[in-house]
Amino acid sequence: MKKVFVKPNLTLFDLSSNEPLFSPKEVLEGLLESEKRLSSKFFYDQVGSDLFQKITELPEYYLTNSEIEILHNNLEEISDLVGENAAVIEFGSGPPLKSRMLMKAIKPSLYLPLDISKSYLLEASKRLAREFSWLQIRAICVDYTRAFQLPFDPEKKRVGCFLGSSLGNFNKSKALDFLIRTKKFLGHGGELLLGVDMKKSAEILNLAYNDSEGITARFNLNILDHINQLCAARFDPANFVHLAGYDENLGCVQMHLVSEVDQKISVLDTEISFSKGEKIHTEDSYKYSCKEIEGLALQAGFSKSVSWFDSKKYFGLFYFS
Ligand code: AVJ
Repeated sequence: MKKVFVKPNLTLFDLSSNEPLFSPKEVLEGLLESEKRLSSKFFYDQVGSDLFQKITELPEYYLTNSEIEILHNNLEEISDLVGENAAVIEFGSGPPLKSRMLMKAIKPSLYLPLDISKSYLLEASKRLAREFSWLQIRAICVDYTRAFQLPFDPEKKRVGCFLGSSLGNFNKSKALDFLIRTKKFLGHGGELLLGVDMKKSAEILNLAYNDSEGITARFNLNILDHINQLCAARFDPANFVHLAGYDENLGCVQMHLVSEVDQKISVLDTEISFSKGEKIHTEDSYKYSCKEIEGLALQAGFSKSVSWFDSKKYFGLFYFS
């Protein structure tokens, strides 16, 4: 673990020096399966994080604006639930606007943003530390999809924030695992603020993941540039196209990259063949009903739930305790 004092009110803990966040071996394993896949965590290099930020500003991608609307309308109630003197732990430091709204309202005694992208985490945390000089920030660079421990004990009520429907990246059983792990991690009296995208018509969902400016396509294709850097590979993004669609049976938007030609690509000295039309699975984005998400939270050991929605009921914010 590396610890860096960045500013008087900002310290960075880099847990990636224990265990690399992005393992080339994991890339190869996914590409060698009969249905090729790349974990969606590989989206988030600096370019990918910036592209995701752009996605959140797109009119078709209603998720972020709906969640901001909910936060905006219910900040008082949320900060009453969190109470004073909490340690707020945010999974994925995410678009800074939401964190800023929350910090302003909650005024926690400690803010712990967790993110896999060190440069993005540092930049977002620095901005927040400058704006809120009263706020103690300990930023932690970590892959929170795996089990990990805080490098210190905040000795305060722990409130987790997992916004933006990032839980949707896990399938139902992984989502339950995550919630069970998080419940334990938050400890006795720990609480969780969770944003989830609700089930809705395929038409709206398909537009949200196929925007007219093609930003989502660039975001999806950028994973290949990231893999090229990580694994000394030679993917040509021009030979793949973006594909995204809502599968109503699964309740999930799936993203793929489709090979436009027959091609062979060497990845870590292993040759991977693609036939024309073959797909790489890059993301699942599960959508929930109230019953489904509250059921999962109950199974994970939370017993009380408060929920809020935007006016269109597209997005839900849940407070589990
Ligand atoms: C950050 C995982 C919530 O699934 O909607 C945006 C990522 N993918 N457009 C999502 C994403 C395509 C996003 N999450």
